[in-house]
Amino acid sequence: MATTRIHPLAAASHAHPYSYYAALRDEAPIFFDAEHKIWVVSRADLIMELMQSPHCVVRPPNEPVPAAIVGSAAAEVFARLIRMNEGQAHLHLKRALQRSLALVDTACLPQLVKKWRSAECDLHALCHFVPVAVLADLLGFAPDTRPEIMGWIADFVACLSPLSSEADIARASVAAQCLLVHFTGVLEGDLPQGSLLANLLQDSECPDRQALLANLIGLLTQSYEATAGLLGNCLIALQQHGVSDTLPLTSFVEEVARYDPPVQSTRRFVVQDFEIHGQLLRKGDAILLILAAANRDAAFNAKGDDFALSRTDRRSLSFGHGRHSCPGQVLAIKITTAILSDYLAQGGTAGPLQWMYQASVNGRIPRFISPQEC
Ligand code: HEM
Repeated sequence: MATTRIHPLAAASHAHPYSYYAALRDEAPIFFDAEHKIWVVSRADLIMELMQSPHCVVRPPNEPVPAAIVGSAAAEVFARLIRMNEGQAHLHLKRALQRSLALVDTACLPQLVKKWRSAECDLHALCHFVPVAVLADLLGFAPDTRPEIMGWIADFVACLSPLSSEADIARASVAAQCLLVHFTGVLEGDLPQGSLLANLLQDSECPDRQALLANLIGLLTQSYEATAGLLGNCLIALQQHGVSDTLPLTSFVEEVARYDPPVQSTRRFVVQDFEIHGQLLRKGDAILLILAAANRDAAFNAKGDDFALSRTDRRSLSFGHGRHSCPGQVLAIKITTAILSDYLAQGGTAGPLQWMYQASVNGRIPRFISPQEC
């Protein structure tokens, strides 16, 4: 496994980031990284304060859309994503999404997992394809177009990463156009009763069509890498720690999400000077919030470095906190648990695994090296 130089933006995909995070928490819970020109925060209380602060927003005000994609179809989608917006537009869509997600019937999850998990799918397909295919079913998309959607989703996520090349961004833009056309058709067709999309369209705070289309793409792309990472990290934990015979599998998935989260960090941008923990943050500053470090903060979770399925008071920032916290948390845990349960029921043992982490500034998403039967 690669052991590259560790620094805040390389830690997420580093083989062993957790002792580095512990040192940051103990020695400099908030500091300015001059090399990367970003504040770095690793303590849970400070991160929660920043996530709730009115002085911090999710995009730099002078760059609402990344400069590399301005003018493309990907930019049209990006600009409307709930995740990238603040204010009233964000609030209305957030409430509509939360209500619609709460109404989705998840009793059918085991059948959906069986439907999409073909006998010969390898670990990559298990982690990347199955969760999104299941989510797309719950959303209410026509299943026959699924392989195409999956390819477009995989291409579109490239525009969300600062590591993408020009070619990646060009593909993301083509994918955005294809997804917009496809979802326009879906919205004009008959939607399955009770699906997330049907619920959303009936909600009084459903956004306008352009915002809805962009956020349908957003729901699938938000979940694509994050859920693949959670499931992949569960397989690794299965090999390293095993599951309990007595505790529900959900507690295993929740402990993995806390202990080795797929989204290790997120960013905020300062819109007004303010002070925190003796540091003056100025308008325009960028902040990296290391959620994975916070989860193991002793003041947040006792014995945070222990993998303990029996925690009764588990706390986690893996799905964010405050106004931008993840509305898909419950669903993501349920989908991951259903897939893992099916995997174990089919005799999957997740071992011996070999993997490396996908290059990313914030995601911890394993790529399993030798193809395994799953
Ligand atoms: C393991 C899977 C997932 C993880 C770890 C995850 C994590 C996160 C995190 C950390 C945030 C907050 C980002 C921030 O505040 O900067 C977030 C936001 C969001 N997530 Fe998830 N997520 C997952 C799955 C999902 C799923 C399945 C959906 C859709 C059903 C979803 C939809 C969203 C949306 C729409 C937001 C933006 C919310 C807002 O800005 O108010 N996520 N997610």
